[in-house]
Amino acid sequence: MAFFDYREGRLHAEGVSINHIAEQVQTPLYCYSKAALRHNYLAYAGHFNAENTLICYAVKANSNQAVLRTLGQLGAGADVVSEGELRRVLLAGIPAERIVYSGVAKTGREMRFALEQDIFQFNVESEPELELLNEVALSMGKRAPVAFRINPDIDARTHAKISTGKASNKFGIPWTRAHQAYARAAELSGIRIQGIDIHIGSQLTQLEPFEQAFICVAELTAELRQLGHEISVIDIGGGLGIDYGDGAAPPPVLADYAALAKRILGPLGCRILVEPGRSVAGNTGVLVSRVIYIKEGELDRFLIIDAGMNDLLRPSLYDAYHEIVPVTQNAGEPLHYQVVGPICETGDTFSRDRILPSLQAGELVAINNAGAYGAVMASSYNTRPLVPEVLVDGEQFTVVRPRPDYATLIDMDTPDGPG
Ligand code: LLP
Repeated sequence: MAFFDYREGRLHAEGVSINHIAEQVQTPLYCYSKAALRHNYLAYAGHFNAENTLICYAVKANSNQAVLRTLGQLGAGADVVSEGELRRVLLAGIPAERIVYSGVAKTGREMRFALEQDIFQFNVESEPELELLNEVALSMGKRAPVAFRINPDIDARTHAKISTGKASNKFGIPWTRAHQAYARAAELSGIRIQGIDIHIGSQLTQLEPFEQAFICVAELTAELRQLGHEISVIDIGGGLGIDYGDGAAPPPVLADYAALAKRILGPLGCRILVEPGRSVAGNTGVLVSRVIYIKEGELDRFLIIDAGMNDLLRPSLYDAYHEIVPVTQNAGEPLHYQVVGPICETGDTFSRDRILPSLQAGELVAINNAGAYGAVMASSYNTRPLVPEVLVDGEQFTVVRPRPDYATLIDMDTPDGPG
């Protein structure tokens, strides 16, 4: 189903013309489709068995309140990694019993806040974190519900910067130490063991690493149960890749991923948690930008647009491919462009060589598949106001985060230092 499509030559998000939104909001801007969000979430809910699965949307992918509310109203839980994300999720109306808390560096303060809310689960990533969580819980007269995130030492075969399941990565407890970690947790009266967790990386384009990880978890679960530990929850993390349109082999389909999880983990009779981020939000958003100049360089033709690496970092940080399309279709001659932003860094490049129908200054382009890890990773580098976000629902759109004005941005500083 296409939620972003051309109608009479003009790109639309659902029933709203992107040109119209750009005129109203100015560029750059992120535009999301509510129907696409719904569609992606319901696909997860449909492919996993709703009764014993909780889809904990990975909030880091796109944490706009409107996105969280949309998903929460459909029944989604949330995977959070900071007090800030936890606060966002609660404000958006996702109940604490659907929230899991991941991350390698939870502080005592963050643990206390999460315990006060009675969240569903802490995914504990190290022995020192376990000890601190125990202390904080005891000081509050509580028992923290815990799953250990296990590092299975599996190569997710994705970009090195978003691979998390190798022994050399900072994430999780080495699977070789799992027995000790669970034994220690069982001694702590501020801790209640309830599960096991893995997350081996993001933008996985093959099923095999998932299969290895699920097998590792299934084996460990059986062993831990034999040792007397109560394991009733298996959190399989996120990581399913999306098709960025770069011509690479398409990522596995959700049906196969869900079937794999059910085949390997189903017999254990646990509640399954899934933490998808990108595969829920990624294709639901575009970054809309205006061409400022066409500049003929010595070697390249530069398409200089008003969105920069501060608005969408992925191409600069991961050399990530994002499809770029003209918002108004044109039959112009296809030309090679180096697509760049306004930031004073050579890394501020969306594509070093892209063939696009010839474009003029003032025209709009859409950078596709920017709904996940787009706006959330934006900054105000070069004192550029944070990029606004718009949510389309049918024939209507709402600015769900306005562009801050310059005064708001600059007045956060205090000009007079000490003395
Ligand atoms: N669970 C945990 C514990 C995670 O760390 C992540 C993502 C997810 C779930 C969701 O993974 P997903 O389904 O979205 O693959 N900024 C990078 C991606 C970083 C992913 C971090 N962790 C990018 O733009 O590609």
